[in-house]
Amino acid sequence: MNLPNLKAAKIRSNKEVVYKESPLVSNDQFLGKKYFLRTYGCQMNEHDSEQIEAILEHLGMTSCEELEGADVIVLNTCAIRENAHDKVFGYLGRIKHLKKENPSVIVCIGGCMSQEENVANELKQRHPYVNIVFGTHNIHELGNMLLEAKAGKQDIEVYSEEGDVYEHVTYKRASHITAWVNIIYGCDKFCTYCIVPYTRGKERSRKLEEIVKEVEKLKEEGYQEVTLLGQNVNAYGHDLPESVAFSDLLEAVAQTNIPRIRFVTSHPWNFTDKMIDVIAHYDNIMPYIHLPLQSGSDRILKLMGRRYTKEEYITLFKKMKEQIPRVAITTDIIVGFPGETDADFKNTLDVVDTCQFDGAYTFIFSPREGTPAAKMKDETPLVEKEERLQILNQKINAYSKESNEKCVGKTLPVLILGTSEKDANKVYGYTDTMKLVNVEATKDTIGKIIPVTITAAKSFSLDGKLAEEVKI
Ligand code: 5AD
Ligand code: SF4
Repeated sequence: MNLPNLKAAKIRSNKEVVYKESPLVSNDQFLGKKYFLRTYGCQMNEHDSEQIEAILEHLGMTSCEELEGADVIVLNTCAIRENAHDKVFGYLGRIKHLKKENPSVIVCIGGCMSQEENVANELKQRHPYVNIVFGTHNIHELGNMLLEAKAGKQDIEVYSEEGDVYEHVTYKRASHITAWVNIIYGCDKFCTYCIVPYTRGKERSRKLEEIVKEVEKLKEEGYQEVTLLGQNVNAYGHDLPESVAFSDLLEAVAQTNIPRIRFVTSHPWNFTDKMIDVIAHYDNIMPYIHLPLQSGSDRILKLMGRRYTKEEYITLFKKMKEQIPRVAITTDIIVGFPGETDADFKNTLDVVDTCQFDGAYTFIFSPREGTPAAKMKDETPLVEKEERLQILNQKINAYSKESNEKCVGKTLPVLILGTSEKDANKVYGYTDTMKLVNVEATKDTIGKIIPVTITAAKSFSLDGKLAEEVKI
């Protein structure tokens, strides 16, 4: 048994990153069994789940849609805010019930929540029917842990370490059109509200040639789009022996000629001019940047440990808009950080008015145990924070709709991903600027980048019809 430890998770030493292989475990004990996998949280977790699925399927299992039919249940969890916790613990109630009826079901909890000291302890004490708890550093061990669970061993194996890099990982990718590619793991920024540096370890980059090889292979397999993944992609390369920057990687990936390249998430700190130049220069790097603001108040930004001021953010934003043709920029904003006053909040609204984002994810501050912000004095009542969120959302939605309305009449390139959820006679996809479009077109457009004339704008999506050529 290895329980997580927050103090250990915080350590950043000069220990060299070890590059490891993670071969899949083969065994016929699970042959023909069913697994149910549920994923919470960000794209990083979605991509980890693709690794988990490969492990389970290599053991001969197939997935099932209903919890009730499963022999193995895996929850890949998120720890970013308290409501992510609540969802998982709520779901565990259902699983507990199921386990009573069928004790042979193997229940596994993985992901960021497992990396939290308080959660691992709670699982151990209050949810003893959980068979396996594994963390973000040892997903590759899940196969062996399952075999041990089958033999009756109950196990919590969560390592609070800086972490290594696993290469040549096998994934069962959710899509044949778009793919995620990890470029850097972990985070060293330690924003004071954020649990990620504790749950995901230190910043460690994959080697440039391995990433390029992976993208080349995906291109050969017919993938149209890759999204380069990292908690903070512009930190890419700083830990590698040969000095490479994210702009070098972006350029190398662009030169593979894969049709579309995206990347998330960018920190406004250290977003270099070279990065802007490279994004502007290559047609296959999409003109879309997710640039979390978090707050527009210098005082709050300082308390958050964000390393930039309101002015610096706006200057960077304007530079991007000027130098990258048609770029769309979205953001993340937290309201109700400890000590946030009305004046601080007004500064956030002011940045929103200046930047007029294409879209934003907005959150109420959620204290995460073990982070510095969780200990800060927070006297603003929840109702007030909720009011601020509502005011902010109204503004965000209005600008988002405005930006969508500007698309009407234009003919934009859209990568079609599948049949529209709302209307089976339509397909859906994303513009280069990452706007969701429901398109009047036949299903043979799925997997292709097609010109679409935008006919109507909603707050969160566009309608369009197939056209002959792109006219922007
Ligand atoms: N409370 C509220 N929002 C948070 N985020 C990260 N940590 C917290 C927290 N403790 C938000 C940030 C980040 C996004 C992924 O989640 O805005 O960019
Ligand atoms: Fe969290 Fe800040 Fe790292 Fe983003 S940059 S993952 S908000 S600590």
